[in-house]
Formats: sequence, C-alpha cells, structure tokens
Amino acid sequence: MSAHGAPIPMTSHPAGPLRGEARVPGDKSISHRSLILGALCVGETRITGLLEGEDVLDTAKAMRAFGAEVTQHGPGTWSVHGVGVGGFAEPADVIDCGNSGTGVRLIMGAMATSPIAATFTGDASLRSRPMGRVTDPMRLFGAMSYGRAGGRLPLTLVGAADPVPVDYALPMPSAQVKSAVLLAGLNAPGQTVVREAEATRDHTERMLAGFGAEVSVTVEDGQRVIRLAGRPELRPQTITVPRDPSSAAFPVCAALITEGSDVLVPGIGLNPTRAGLYATLREMGADLTYENPREEGGEPVADLRARFSPNMRGIEVPAERAASMIDEYPILSVVAAFAEGATVMRGVGELRVKESDRIDAMARGLEANGVRIEEDRETLIVHGMGPKGVPGGGTAAARLDHRIAMSFLCLGMGARHAVGVDDASPIATSFPIFEDLMTGLGASLERARG
Ligand code: S3P
Repeated sequence: MSAHGAPIPMTSHPAGPLRGEARVPGDKSISHRSLILGALCVGETRITGLLEGEDVLDTAKAMRAFGAEVTQHGPGTWSVHGVGVGGFAEPADVIDCGNSGTGVRLIMGAMATSPIAATFTGDASLRSRPMGRVTDPMRLFGAMSYGRAGGRLPLTLVGAADPVPVDYALPMPSAQVKSAVLLAGLNAPGQTVVREAEATRDHTERMLAGFGAEVSVTVEDGQRVIRLAGRPELRPQTITVPRDPSSAAFPVCAALITEGSDVLVPGIGLNPTRAGLYATLREMGADLTYENPREEGGEPVADLRARFSPNMRGIEVPAERAASMIDEYPILSVVAAFAEGATVMRGVGELRVKESDRIDAMARGLEANGVRIEEDRETLIVHGMGPKGVPGGGTAAARLDHRIAMSFLCLGMGARHAVGVDDASPIATSFPIFEDLMTGLGASLERARG
C-alpha cells in the first residue's frame, strides 16, 4: 500500500494489439527540481507539464513547509514564489516525503546549509532506504543528523549555521547524492565541488545554470567534475517539463512484446544521461524509432515509435551504461524474458537500494511467471523464452515499488496467461494515469473487486 491509500490488487490479461498515442506525464526528476529550485529563488517560477504524481506532490507540500508559496493553476501548471538561497524557514512539523527518495534527498541537501532543523520521514519503503549517503556529505558542510541505525528515516537534520564548502567524490553513482551536495553548496560561501566516476543524470547542473548559478562541468582524469560558486542570486524561470523517458519505457516495452502493437509516445526527453534503455532495446533488435527529433527547453526530445518485435535477442548490457538506465532495469528484464537467449545485466547493485530491492523483486516475480533467472549481488541474468513465449499465470509482489508494479502489468500484456500484481497503488507515485493510458492503447487491466 502506498503512503496515501489502500492496496489495489490488479491483473493484466493478455492483450490484443496495443495501438495509438501514449502521452506520458512530465519527468519526475525535473519536476522535483523545478519545485525545489523555484523555492530557492525570490520571485515567481512558472512550471508547465509538472508531474502530478504523489512523489512530486509531497515535494510541493514540503516546499510550502519551508516557506515557499506553491500554487496549482491548472493541470500540470504551477507557480512557485520562492524564498531565496538561504531563506528556508524552519518547518513547523515533520516533513513526510512518502515514497520519494529523490524528494527527501534533494530537500535534505537544500536545507542542510541553513540554520534550521527539520525531521524527515516517509512510507515503509522510504524508511528502509539508506540516507547515510546524503547525511555523510552534509556533515562535511557542518550539518548534523540524528536518525535510526544505518541513517534510516525518520531522521532530523540540523542545518549548518556557518557552512563551509565541500569537495566531494561520490562513493556511488547517484544523481540524488550529487544533487543534494550541489543544493547544499548553494548556501555555502566559496566553491563546492562534486566528482563523479560515472556520469549520472545531469538535470541539477543544467537547471542550476538555467536559474543563473555559476556552474562548470569538466572531465579530469576520467572523472566528471562539477564546480558551483556558492551564494548565487538565483533568478526565477519559466519551465516546460518534458515527458518522462522512464515512464515512456512502459508503453514502449509493452508494445515491443505484445503481438500486432504499434504505439507512438510523443515528446520524450532523451537527455543522454537518461536514454540508455532505448539504446539497449535497439541493440536487442527492437523495432523502435525516434521520430521528429528536436530540442525543447534545453533538452533533446523526440517522438518514440515502438512496434511489436518478435525477433529480439538477449545481449550483455554494458555496465558503464547502468547509470543512464538505472530505473529501467525492471522493465528491461520483462522485455528480456521475451527475447531469444540471455540478457546479462552487470554492475546493477544500486538496484538493491531503490524503492525495493529490484533485483530480488524482478527475479522472484519473473520466476513465478515461468522465466529462468540468475542473480548475484551486482548482477541479474534473464534467460529469455524467445519464440516459445512467456507463460505468465503468476502473481508478483510490488513491494511498494511503482516500477515493479508497472513492469509486471506489462509482462501480462505479452504473456500467454494473465499476470497479477498484489498492489498497484504505488504506481500513483510517478505515473498516475498508467491504468487509463494503457487501457486506452488496448491493455486489459482488471482491479480485484473488494
Ligand atoms: C533520480 C536519481 C536516481 C533514480 C531516481 C531519480 C534523480 O536515483 O533512481 O528515480 O532524480 O536524481 P539515485 O541517485 O539514487 O541513483
């Protein structure tokens, strides 16, 4: 069950062809950042195309608690009257970030260099996730944190009254940690530096520059080095949020595995730090084309066209591609089940600390549906069924994880027998229109009657 509702068991029956246009919601990463950066500048930031999923709505609520005025004007159209860098007020109550790791980690960064305290919590999934990866660098700025064992939520962060800038090498490839350090660096005097061994999604760097901060990115000794000058005066922006490539992955992949399908997914952000799945699918032999490539709001965008692809082959996904498709391994492992031969996903240990342990969740759910799996701490191997097809007929546990729930519902569309998911409610965190959109394309999704 999500933080916001009762469990919703759902069954996905084998579908006829999926056809039509799939207008997926706004990008989750950019939506969170739009609200947080809007709250960190004086004046009005206007946002269109904001994702109105539970995760982002929780961030909107949090920004209000820190003193910003956040208003919805119409579907996807919002404004933020911010308080300026260093202007956050102390929240009067606990900040509940629901299911959202991005929300809580970025907000912790944004407040860690202000002389205020805040206590953060979330749902059972978020309370099980490691926060030490953020609180450790926050201590270097001078903040203090008091949480449960292993840095778990609930935790209280006491912001640094007299912050110092930080030079931080990321111990793991994480855009959330990178962003937390950069957001904290905004209110530290002097220059904050973040070094990453692998490029992770770069929306924070791009958007900080767009808001008028002095940010530079260089490559030094194979590392990506981001330098940010502290205490900038951020200028409010008008932001059009592109549609989310991570949400687009579901109608795209469902079309690839469902006989007779032909689906167009328009206006998808294809920032190279996010587009690894689409390169992988093409290498597997998917009939996937980019139509009408263009640039919107500084991000590369295209319309994706996916057609049923019965001749896909398993491949070895290069480990160095992992960061650019980290949220897409669950749905990739569904596609892999339909390909001929093994798809080998190495260097994916970070999947174990997402909304659920995604290696274990996919392995157990695929096995329950007749697919053979091998796994270790850092690796997932799916033995594809090829022309034999995927049996289906099993039920998967969603484990409070939206992407696990959506992946297994897509599996059911292409499998020989229906696939059940014990709880589809977490889908509302990132893709609240999933059920309607997929049904509109021809999927057959059934909610259990209570
Ligand atoms: C995100 C970063 C990724 C990703 C998450 C969104 C972001 O997490 O999994 O869905 O918006 O910065 P990590 O930074 O933990 O890899």
